[in-house]
Amino acid sequence: MKSKEKTPANPPADGVLLASVPQHVAIIMDGNGRWAQARGLPRLAGHRAGTENLRRVIEACAEFGVRYLTIYAFSTENWGRPEDEVSGLMNLFDDVFDRELAELHRQGARLIHIGRLDGVRPKMVAKIRKGEEHTRDNKRLTLCVAFNYGGRDEIVCAIQKMLTEGVQPEDVTDELVSQYLFTAGIPDPDLVIRTSGEMRTSNFLIWQSAYAEWVFPEVFWPDFGREELLKALKEYARRERRFGLVPTTG
Ligand code: FPP
Repeated sequence: MKSKEKTPANPPADGVLLASVPQHVAIIMDGNGRWAQARGLPRLAGHRAGTENLRRVIEACAEFGVRYLTIYAFSTENWGRPEDEVSGLMNLFDDVFDRELAELHRQGARLIHIGRLDGVRPKMVAKIRKGEEHTRDNKRLTLCVAFNYGGRDEIVCAIQKMLTEGVQPEDVTDELVSQYLFTAGIPDPDLVIRTSGEMRTSNFLIWQSAYAEWVFPEVFWPDFGREELLKALKEYARRERRFGLVPTTG
């Protein structure tokens, strides 16, 4: 689904008025490991700090009028990390779900998972499903958690499902493919942020971000707070989105 119109100016929050606010912000939360290493801490300490930061960024997104926030929590490739980091991350996700779900609900946020759930611990799957069910009627912000997610894997799943359902070649359109992705029903991201200065897509929302604006703040994820988010939103507000067309005049 494409969102070609910029959202109108948001109500001033804490004195801040932006000319346009992205409806959907997606974030690659990069740099946890380097943040920890720079402090002589184990990598997992960086992931813990990154989790703490997530709460602040969710709050700030809701404050600035962002309606959808997608975060890249764990990719299909991240299983290849050292075993202790993977199991540490899984325990962290477990704790976060227990601790943060009530707060998310209190903030009026809806939780949606995108990615595959096969291969994920059954206890974790149950928590994700419970979280989605518990928050399903919330309207203030939709938080999409990309967990065990890969953009290519998502497209492969979509093709498999289309073939299984007997979709005819002439019926395959841009819109139809979008409806078969994990993100069906969610507007495409307007702004993608990758922290830590790395400039790669890393298999994140590769179909959906075709016309997104990208920013690459030079801070590690645990240090990406409200002010950094605001800088990214201001940068977005300065951009002219053209969707392959010519610049607007006058
Ligand atoms: C990338 O940093 C970060 C991750 C692979 C994990 C991100 C997860 C969190 C912040 C926890 C979020 C929690 C929930 C429940 C959604 P990196 O390890 O690649 O950092 P590096 O590039 O410095 O090594």
